[in-house]
Amino acid sequence: MTDFFSSADLPSGLPADLPADLPSGLRERAAALDVADPLAGYRDLFAPSEGLIAYLDGNSLGRPLAATRERLASFVDGPWAARLIRSWDEGWMDAPTELGDTLGRVALGAAPGQTVVADSTTVLLYKLARAAVDARPGRRVIVADTENFPTDRFVLQGIAAERGLELRWITPDAEAGVTPEEVAAAVGRDTALVLLSHVAYKSGYIADLPAITRIVHDAGALILWDLCHSAGSVPLDLDADGVDIAVGCTYKYLNGGPGSPAFAYLAAGLQDEVRQPVQGWMGAVDPFAMGPDYEPATGIRQLISGTPPVIGMLPMRDMLALIDEAGMPAVREKSLALTGFAIDVADEYLAGVRVASPRDPERRGSHVMLDHPDFKRVVAEAWARGVVPDFRPPQGLRVGLSPLSTSFTEVAEGLWTIRDLLA
Ligand SMILES: Cc1ncc(COP(=O)(O)O)c(C=O)c1O
Repeated sequence: MTDFFSSADLPSGLPADLPADLPSGLRERAAALDVADPLAGYRDLFAPSEGLIAYLDGNSLGRPLAATRERLASFVDGPWAARLIRSWDEGWMDAPTELGDTLGRVALGAAPGQTVVADSTTVLLYKLARAAVDARPGRRVIVADTENFPTDRFVLQGIAAERGLELRWITPDAEAGVTPEEVAAAVGRDTALVLLSHVAYKSGYIADLPAITRIVHDAGALILWDLCHSAGSVPLDLDADGVDIAVGCTYKYLNGGPGSPAFAYLAAGLQDEVRQPVQGWMGAVDPFAMGPDYEPATGIRQLISGTPPVIGMLPMRDMLALIDEAGMPAVREKSLALTGFAIDVADEYLAGVRVASPRDPERRGSHVMLDHPDFKRVVAEAWARGVVPDFRPPQGLRVGLSPLSTSFTEVAEGLWTIRDLLA
């Protein structure tokens, strides 16, 4: 049986079948963009992937940094083997909030004390959405949209059933996303909570976070933003925009690795008002008092439930350091150049393929959705050739462009392979 937890027994690398017939005009344009790219050097810091031609899925699972190998090994020998349980007192206990503060500063526009790393996105969505509806008693409606990621919709369905609340669905344009006008029409004095994704997981549309947040507040409701596809690719200013609550994952543009823990932001002004429902000992005011009744910790620690996933917090530290050094504005600039280039190549060379993402750069995240009836087959064949985009039903090929690990030549070669496979 293949052991997917070590490198000893993995299937051999993907065949590096370079697309031989890449037209010289396209190759030269991509090469010129790579030469002019001030962030190009960062790409060499990622661990090599054998046989890979183009990784177009950094928005699903970011590539590991080479530095992470050393970090994991030295963690085993150092804090774990050498210090053992003493390490809890020597830093591990504070890891969820210490790392949360770093993430908040580097990627979220959040002052310290409002971000925590814990659980999974799904679990944090549940904890915070439940806490939010309980903080608005008497209001019976949760507003959400039909195009959001399944876990967001499913969690809300569970909470609505549990609390006897009504779910009011916005049905946005699937190739764009939820607009401020649609939110204004859906919220009212009956609304407790609005949950939306900042960047839509299919179309890549960036919702107007400041405007929508204001509309939700004007109705007296709380807003919860899912930042899975924004954190580390689109600059955020949660404090300045008055966001109440946000949740996101760290294995996409924050390169935390498979199953790395999620993060939650809870605005300082709400921390005394909101109570999350999964009352565990690690979020209690004194975990080692072992007392009879739960009393929540003050501040952001109250969002923790059980033992913090310390190992899962290691790889994202390397990526956060890189993003910090490059700066979110430069990351965003490269992201826009990559997605713009991908759209140009699709328009010019992929006959019969439709771009199903916003063409307006202001409204576009770091991935581009392409649409064609043959894409299910094409994506499977592309993976076998070392070109790795994502398939999203019914017929979408999603090109995820992680700014620090993706080159323009990679995009050109990847999309040219897609053209070959379509032909
Ligand atoms: C918008 C969005 N929310 C949530 C998730 C996943 O949640 P979890 O990390 O709990 O699997 C994803 C995963 O791709 C996502 O795209």
